[in-house]
Amino acid sequence: MKVAVFSTKPYDRTYLTNSNTTHELTFFEPRLTIHTAPLADGHDAVCPFVNDELDSEVLTRLAYGGVELIALRSAGYNHVDIRAATDLGLTVARVPAYSPHAVAEHTVALILGLNRKLYRAYNRVRDGNFALNGLLGFDLHGKVVGIIGTGKIGSVTAEVLRGFGCELIGYDPYPNDYFAELGTYVDLPELFRRSAVISLHAPLNPDTYHTIDEEAISQMKDGVMLINTSRGALIDTVAVIEGLKSGKIGSVGLDVYEEEGDLFFEDLSGEVITDDVFARLLTFPNVLITGHQAFFTEEALQNIADTTMENITEYEDTGTVTNIVSLEFARS
Ligand code: NAI
Repeated sequence: MKVAVFSTKPYDRTYLTNSNTTHELTFFEPRLTIHTAPLADGHDAVCPFVNDELDSEVLTRLAYGGVELIALRSAGYNHVDIRAATDLGLTVARVPAYSPHAVAEHTVALILGLNRKLYRAYNRVRDGNFALNGLLGFDLHGKVVGIIGTGKIGSVTAEVLRGFGCELIGYDPYPNDYFAELGTYVDLPELFRRSAVISLHAPLNPDTYHTIDEEAISQMKDGVMLINTSRGALIDTVAVIEGLKSGKIGSVGLDVYEEEGDLFFEDLSGEVITDDVFARLLTFPNVLITGHQAFFTEEALQNIADTTMENITEYEDTGTVTNIVSLEFARS
């Protein structure tokens, strides 16, 4: 199949090329938007990443250009209008699991880095400043960690944190036995009330949009640590900034941001950041942000490339895919 691959960086090209056996891949650096969609004309499939835009307008333009398959290089599909894709007869495939360990380990890296202020210590020591004032952390051992979304990544995160001696509590509308062995399921108010650290691992959908808002923050323990490696819009960033300013929130670790599409994955070091909310976040000494890199391990890139190619081949051979994202699936 002829595949138009959007939002590609050198590492995407390397891994996808190595995993490809039969397809004709065209790599495009730009994000997929209504302006770049015509680049896919004459291709059978597009292969987008997390910040590509797949709304009704873009999907209609892709279908007009002959595209039949949307082969996502991600597990999340919140950026795809599944209803529009279905109406247009487009098949959407995803990579359901590529390495929950990659994201879980980065989550724990954020917790540890933030708690022990490694980013501040690194700069201090390089500057010949060996003072400890301002670097005080806490023992993770014995602390209650609240996991919102106890699926693959949430459960692996819980498993790692169990090794630190944390007490795990979790909230998920669909509880599973695996997490139940590691910790205890509670409702959201109890999770907010008891957790010293709260880590988000739920998908973004209308139910989870702004799970962490002003009301939720008001229920949390003073000095709570908030970690989000899931999707930016699970958090109302403005409410979190207010929580940081008042001291209610003790620290924040983010790998995702509500409006990250205009920022992440690009070198903007010579540019003026015009997003004032993001710029405000950067001013806090107790906020640690990474640019959506939790997935970024060799193993995860290999798995993403392999499954993406398998999805495309399966579609070519059978006209459908096991890893389909249908309307029925999106509702479940
Ligand atoms: P998963 O599907 O295995 O787990 C998600 C869990 O969230 C499920 O158990 C589900 O029941 C639960 N859930 C659904 N609605 C909920 C709600 N209203 N409140 C609480 N929990 C709810 O997905 P997985 O693989 O664990 O991924 C979780 C999220 O991590 C993905 O949706 C994606 O947004 C994000 N992610 C981030 C990456 C990064 O690089 N930062 C990479 C990969 C995924």
